[in-house]
Order: sequence, then structure tokens, then C-alpha cells
Amino acid sequence: MSFAMKSQEALKRLSEIRIVPVLVLDEVESGLKMCEILLECGLPAAEITFRTAAAAEIIRAASKRFPELYLGAGTILNVHDLRRAFDAGAKFAVAPGFNPTVVRAAVENHFAFAPGVCTPSEVEQAYELGCSFLKFFPAEAAGGVKMLKSLIAPYKHLGIRFMPTGGITALNAMEYLSIKEVAAVGGTWLGKAADIAAGNWEIIRETVRQAAALKEGK
Ligand code: 3PG
Repeated sequence: MSFAMKSQEALKRLSEIRIVPVLVLDEVESGLKMCEILLECGLPAAEITFRTAAAAEIIRAASKRFPELYLGAGTILNVHDLRRAFDAGAKFAVAPGFNPTVVRAAVENHFAFAPGVCTPSEVEQAYELGCSFLKFFPAEAAGGVKMLKSLIAPYKHLGIRFMPTGGITALNAMEYLSIKEVAAVGGTWLGKAADIAAGNWEIIRETVRQAAALKEGK
């Protein structure tokens, strides 16, 4: 399958899941616990960020233990981590920024990858390289829903889809999700690093359940 097909497949899955927890995980054990909660509480996806040394190992272990969880890699800043993520079993990858070197490697290797954009110039450069699934980051700081709608307007005819992250919470998630071009939203509010480190699993369960209910319109 080509890069375009793989990216469309990721887009389709993420559009069904709608809310994607962005996780910064230090340890395999707590990472697996977090993944178990996501499945149990109705959000069967996660972006495991490559901001920690354990990221690849967690993707490998969680993909094996929870094959029904749709796991991707985040904060992919170079080709080395891109390869590590997919070797470990990531189904998709994203980055906060638009790095043409990483995009080209993803295209060549047929890895589903959504670079981060927050300007029209970045949208155009990413699209030119073959990306029609983009992360909008940092969503709230860049101007939120108003900015995203303006950013989408000139490109509507291209069929580009976005996954906003950065400052998204239960309070504003639905506003983004009501935009037709928004496939899914992501955020760290669904598994805060401090709660994971402290083992506050009940708090996390409740937050994930609420988000799962939110996207069902409950
Ligand atoms: C990301 O990588 O997408 C962001 O760190 C998520 O931003 P948030 O912490 O504001 O949810």
C-alpha cells in the first residue's frame, strides 16, 4: 500500500475514534495500564510520544498485548524515530511540525504520517509532498477554531483533513469536531503524565469515560 493509501487508512480509523489520547509515558508497566484503561473506557487509540526513552518499547509491548488498540507514535522529529516507531508496530505517526525530510522518508517507506502545520505555507508544502492528513498544532495557541476554519477555507477543494492538538480539552473538543475537515482531536488531558506517574487510575478512567461519552453526544 502506498503512503497515500496508508495515510487514508489511518485517517479513516482516527475519524471513527474521534478523540485520541496523547501520552507521555516513562515506563512500560504504567504505559500498559494506561492502554488497558483506554480500551476498557471506550477510546481505543493513542498517540505515544517519542519524548521519552520508553516510547518504542511501549508501542511494541502494547501492540502485542492489545492488538485492538489503534496505536500511533507522536513527536516524530527525525527519520531514525520514524523507523523505530513503525518497527515497533505503530500504525501511524505524527509530529508537531512540518519537517520535509521526515515526510519524504514516510512517503518512501509507505508509513502513514501526518506532519504538524499551523500556517498556509506549511499546508501547501505538506500537500505538495503528498500529505492530505495533517496535524494542526498548537491548535489553541495558534488561534483555535477560528484560525483553523480560516486555514481550511482556501483548501476545501483539496479534501485535506486535520487532527488538531495542543490545548484541547473536554471543554472545546466538540467545537473542533463539528468542523467537517476535522477527523479527530488529540490531547494530553486524557492521561496526564502526573496522574499516570502517581497511579491515579480512577481519575484517568473517569476522564476517558467522559470523553468517550462526549463524542457519542451524551
Ligand atoms: C501534542 O503533542 O499534540 C501536544 O503536546 C498535546 O497538547 P496538549 O498537552 O495541550 O494536549
